[in-house]
Amino acid sequence: MCPHRLSPFFTLPNPWYKRMMHHFWQEIKRPLIGLSPMDGVTDPAFRRIAALHGKPDLIITEFTSADGICHGAERELSGLRFDEIERPVVAQIYGADPALFFKVAQLVCELGFDGLDINMGCPAKKVSSNGCGAGLITDPARAQAIIRSAKEGIKQWADGAPLSALNLHPKIVAWAAKQKGKPFRRIIPVSVKTRLGTNRIVIREWVQHLLDANPAAISIHGRTLSQGYSGSANWEAIYEAASIARGSGTLILGNGDIATLEEAHQKIRQGGVDGVLIGRSALGNPWIFQNLYPSYDERIKVALEHAAIFQEINGRYFSGMRKHLGWYCRGFQGASKLRAQLVRVKDLEETKELLLPYLSEVASL
Ligand SMILES: Cc1cc2nc3c(=O)[nH]c(=O)nc-3n(C[C@H](O)[C@H](O)[C@H](O)COP(=O)(O)O)c2cc1C
Repeated sequence: MCPHRLSPFFTLPNPWYKRMMHHFWQEIKRPLIGLSPMDGVTDPAFRRIAALHGKPDLIITEFTSADGICHGAERELSGLRFDEIERPVVAQIYGADPALFFKVAQLVCELGFDGLDINMGCPAKKVSSNGCGAGLITDPARAQAIIRSAKEGIKQWADGAPLSALNLHPKIVAWAAKQKGKPFRRIIPVSVKTRLGTNRIVIREWVQHLLDANPAAISIHGRTLSQGYSGSANWEAIYEAASIARGSGTLILGNGDIATLEEAHQKIRQGGVDGVLIGRSALGNPWIFQNLYPSYDERIKVALEHAAIFQEINGRYFSGMRKHLGWYCRGFQGASKLRAQLVRVKDLEETKELLLPYLSEVASL
């Protein structure tokens, strides 16, 4: 549990102290190594597994649409469930309308998240061409307005504004009311995750625009929008951003192509970033944050544990688990045949039938 949640000021009536309290970015261990948000991957089940077996310093949800939430799409909300073990845990939201961020920021507070991250890096056409995600890099004024609006929403929530005043869709209000506990009203920090530019690298100007809105942290994936995931991440450009931000109070996290924990530390040493985020190398590999290389048996056990949590959370909608199973089984003998079977499993029972025979103690019975 974060120390600020145990503040002795807990019962003071005035709102001023809520602004004085430290937020998690100020208290987090540095340099930090966090789990990068990944749509369809860093869902509640995977985040819990990552927290249990990898213990990254920070966990961020997959991105969630501000429009979707405000229009009552309950599906959007399923990714915003979290377990206490994930803390510090940050909700990532995307959108283009500052007014919606004012509302959604308050919902994020009400759900008890430690922070709100705004996605300004997604390259997907359906996101960026609507002015969301990496599309915001070409509209710095809007990007700043979004950050400020989210902060204002959070401030008003900390001062006691009720969710009912926001005219959120009734389904969303009902869903939020069902979530466990009522968090202490306090200011939570706003951060941004972005890229180096759209068609070309503009990180110098772009990071300055972001700093003007004073986010708590900026995570930078070292590619442009048009690069997608091609080529390799440009860490020199990330380090340049870090040098511009130095002394501003905003942390800079680098991101892109980190394959091992050693590499993460090497990237941190090279360029004065406050930390890094690891994404794809954590697929089927929550142990990366601990520098562990588990045996096949351990991987199968955790794959089954993951499948059990996934089923507990999602019930009969098990298909989202299949890709994770394939990732855990990379490198197994007969892996391609096994993966071809795993992409069809319907539930935990079928997963056990396929994977248990691979456990050495079962095989040797
Ligand atoms: C499947 C997938 C989904 C992603 N979804 C998101 C997302 O929801 N929000 C986000 O900010 N970045 C998203 N990303 C980008 C990653 O967070 C990260 O920036 C990128 O993969 C580079 O880091 P890596 O080389 O360590 O994977 C996604 C990446 C992948 C591969």
